[in-house]
Amino acid sequence: MSIKYVLAIETSCDDTSVSVVQEDGFVISVISANQDQAHQPFGGIVPEIASRNHTLNILPLVDAVLKQSAQTLGCKQEVIWQHIDGIVVTARPGLIGSLLVGVLTAKTLALVHNKPFIGINHLEGHLLAPYLRDPGYQPPDHFNYPYIALAISGGHTNLYKVHELGDYEVLGSTVDDAAGEAFDKFAKMLNLGYPGGVQVDKLSQNGEPAAFKFPRAMIHEKNYDFSFSGLKTAALRQIEKMSESERAEQLENLCASYQEAIVDVLITKLARAVENEGVKTAVVTGGVSANSRVRSMAQDWADKKGVTLVIPPIRYCTDNAAMIGYAGICRLNRGETSTQDLCPMPKPLPSDFR
Ligand code: KG4
Ligand code: ZN
Repeated sequence: MSIKYVLAIETSCDDTSVSVVQEDGFVISVISANQDQAHQPFGGIVPEIASRNHTLNILPLVDAVLKQSAQTLGCKQEVIWQHIDGIVVTARPGLIGSLLVGVLTAKTLALVHNKPFIGINHLEGHLLAPYLRDPGYQPPDHFNYPYIALAISGGHTNLYKVHELGDYEVLGSTVDDAAGEAFDKFAKMLNLGYPGGVQVDKLSQNGEPAAFKFPRAMIHEKNYDFSFSGLKTAALRQIEKMSESERAEQLENLCASYQEAIVDVLITKLARAVENEGVKTAVVTGGVSANSRVRSMAQDWADKKGVTLVIPPIRYCTDNAAMIGYAGICRLNRGETSTQDLCPMPKPLPSDFR
């Protein structure tokens, strides 16, 4: 039987997200509950708070998405489960307590409604996000495998070659902090609030990227790995040297210089991978792809090199259940399923990537 619609659940980190997705990637409904307010006082994600909030959010979100989907599909809410052919959930990697809430919910719904279900790797969702579509977005006409994907968020910074569905080659990863984490930690040093990436981006608009010389670790190394801890330390040393008033005066320059150092390394390595692998398509995804400098530098490079660059809209770049649903529906339609003994896992399975 072909699976036409799935209900998808994403709870791997701090966002609770539920979606109904159609087999071609069309998003029938997606609703997410953001927990930034709850973690703001701590300047970072507190796993225990995240999982507790998931337990509060998950069932109301499932109800809301099913209600919205019934409206979109033009059926009565009582019969919406007749239209849902399967259930998809993020099973790894992530915060174990957070994943547990999603996986248990998905397994219970699958059992109660007698539907096939599948647990998938969260990163696979990010990698396939460009295939999603809705009235405001669709991938370019010729978009297809293979492509190089840069996945950058608060939790991951990885470069992949996406050969085809289910065949993902890790070209490189961060050896320490993720790019989003580097933004957030810098923002914390300057008391800019959490999550700090957006603030740094905003302040950078009026700053001079060459005002401070910050290191670009590993930029000349032939591998595709990243490191941001040296940059973070260099920024801290710089900030410590400055008086309160100097910091205030130089705030925009500090942000722009720090941002430029991160983005420079990210786009340099993406460009090198595209060139070396001989592919003509690149994808940038994950929360940090919202960064205006990431977007402009990537687009300038792509235009110059004649590369097709796809950066999905931010609603599909940040953690969301629609991308999980699309990855899952593709796999369910290939005949893959999970069983009730599926366990959430903090790390990927060795078979997830090559
Ligand atoms: O993908 P995401 O929503 O959640 C995960 O971490 O999985 O990404 C959140 C990260 C945070 O670190 C946040 O500071 C960063 O993305 N971020 C940005 C911007 N918007 C979000 N970083 C730089 N510039 C932005 N405009
Ligand atoms: Zn993510």
